[in-house]
Amino acid sequence: MKPIEKRIRDLLKEKRAIMLAHNYQPSEIQDLADLCGDSLELSIKASQTDAEVIVVCGVSFMAETASILSPTKTVLLPRHDAGCPMADTVTPEALKARIAELLPMPVVTYVNSTAAVKALSTICCTSANVVNVVNSLEEDEALMVPDQNLARFAQGHTTKRLHLWNGCCPIHDRLTPADIQAAKAAHPEAEVMVHPECRPEVVALADAVVSTSGMIRHAGASDAREFIVATEVGLLHPLKKSHPDKAFFPASTAMVCPDMKKITLEDVARSLERMEGEVKVPPEIQAPALKAVQRMVDLAR
Ligand code: 13P
Ligand code: SF4
Repeated sequence: MKPIEKRIRDLLKEKRAIMLAHNYQPSEIQDLADLCGDSLELSIKASQTDAEVIVVCGVSFMAETASILSPTKTVLLPRHDAGCPMADTVTPEALKARIAELLPMPVVTYVNSTAAVKALSTICCTSANVVNVVNSLEEDEALMVPDQNLARFAQGHTTKRLHLWNGCCPIHDRLTPADIQAAKAAHPEAEVMVHPECRPEVVALADAVVSTSGMIRHAGASDAREFIVATEVGLLHPLKKSHPDKAFFPASTAMVCPDMKKITLEDVARSLERMEGEVKVPPEIQAPALKAVQRMVDLAR
């Protein structure tokens, strides 16, 4: 273990802290974390931990979600500028205006959104549970924000009518069917795993459409030896680590999320040492946002 890694592990113990890392984080961060996972797994862990401090190695909406679920705990985001451009496509003002235009209907909000937007929502979802969440609604119509690609994917698996928002993940949305076809030509035996943040025409070429952790599970369950991975390239690390006997190829090496690569081991150590980078959702937002997030977490139980 490198000295910086030892320092972080010692600090985690001293501060009674837990380190959570998203599957897209740099490999050295994932390797040191107490738990790596997709957005749903990180949310569930944040709701269950008895640690006093939660260090979130991911982006700001993940730290906000941890604070919403554990308002009495200290939540640290080692880099305050690690954001999500998709989350920024919906503001509370714009969402209120859209809600006013529509007939009364539930609002299903992807966790990749700000706490203030979650506070206006009926229920949250992640890429792992979007279909279950939509189908759990009593109503026949819903507004889904902010990812229109995820909403289109869900629309294919429900009889409910989904109204879309004009948002998407710039990293996943840039992947084209031509990228998948080129990867398939290079690796004809490989199964294609696609994240539902990709465009419908890319999703249509998939053998499996799953969340990041869903891809790790799918690769284990499948008889295939090779996989084309259509999501952010950080996932290749946990895929190779979990399945060293299988081969994984990125659908495109351009799928790099700069925000997910901001946090370094030095940032984690500094944040813990100085208790710097606290993310605290104000109570007037936390309470309504918790209803929407908790409703989602309860569905997963
Ligand atoms: P999941 O790990 O929940 O599939 O999330 C993908 C993502 O884009 C997170 O920013
Ligand atoms: Fe946001 Fe996309 Fe980056 Fe995830 S990969 S944090 S959705 S920009």
